[in-house]
Amino acid sequence: MAAGAVSRVAIITGAGTGIGRALALRLAADGVHILAVGRRETPLTELQRDAGGAEHVTPVVADVASADGRAAIVSAAKGHGPIDFLVQNAGTIAPIAALADIKPSEWEQAFAVNVHGPLFLLQALNERLRRPGARVLHIGSGAASKAVGGWTAYCATKAAFLSVYRSMAAELRPEGVLVGSVRPGIVNTPMQVAIRDADEAAMPDVSFFKGLHAAMEPGAAAPGSAPPSGSLDTPENVAAFLSFLLTRSGDDEFGAEEWDIRDASHHHRWTTRKA
Ligand SMILES: NC(=O)c1ccc[n+]([C@@H]2O[C@H](COP(=O)([O-])OP(=O)(O)OC[C@H]3O[C@@H](n4cnc5c(N)ncnc54)[C@H](OP(=O)(O)O)[C@@H]3O)[C@@H](O)[C@H]2O)c1
Repeated sequence: MAAGAVSRVAIITGAGTGIGRALALRLAADGVHILAVGRRETPLTELQRDAGGAEHVTPVVADVASADGRAAIVSAAKGHGPIDFLVQNAGTIAPIAALADIKPSEWEQAFAVNVHGPLFLLQALNERLRRPGARVLHIGSGAASKAVGGWTAYCATKAAFLSVYRSMAAELRPEGVLVGSVRPGIVNTPMQVAIRDADEAAMPDVSFFKGLHAAMEPGAAAPGSAPPSGSLDTPENVAAFLSFLLTRSGDDEFGAEEWDIRDASHHHRWTTRKA
């Protein structure tokens, strides 16, 4: 970066692994300073190392589900000027359970991480978002609008998260803050490991997800590829799409409707490889 240039700033929750890590590395390579949030310190310091050091990534060990955790994120943001991007990516698939086995405490924890956390993090950071021009991106899921056996908590929380996006997109747009949402497809991350590890009695479709993983070919779904059908996408390819959404999509389209990586109508705008 040129001397004196001011870096853009992104807060990415769940940045230590999976989609959040890949997006953090991609944006950091483009000169965005990343406040990388997660509960475990080691994945965040490894991300910092892999991104080139403290100039590029600030690890923020915090739980988005707790008020203390959100306060720690606000505190970490204080030295960094207006926030350009808030990526609400931290999420949990737990509990994967049939009706008889859903525990109230696990149900509440799923809502605390997937719904309450991002809503109240946005509330806490709202005054620090760049006006005009900040972009808030929800990492949503197709599970918001369809049933998957055993995923009752995940489907319900992602549906609520989608609703929060719609309300915030309408409420904050007049203030110059754009809120968008995206379905990233089915992606080879630790969350998919948890899905493949589920008991078939709790999740009857577990073999479908095992099949998607088994069908992955080495080198497939490199960054800039159309998302594969019949196998898992890579976090790096999803990050190429999310980077396009955050930095190159238009203001009018960013929060207008939820984006879906599988929608071929936008592939020519961010893919760089032939199908
Ligand atoms: N993979 C898929 O196929 C897929 C499909 C659709 C949507 N998504 C969505 O994509 C997002 C990222 O998931 P992923 O697939 O990349 O899985 P992942 O690797 O498991 O990422 C989840 C991240 O969230 C962090 N996290 C969890 N609870 C947290 C909390 N309370 N506070 C702060 N950080 C927390 C985790 O780190 P710590 O444990 O260290 O906190 C982890 O780094 C999720 O919102 C998920 O619902 C994934």
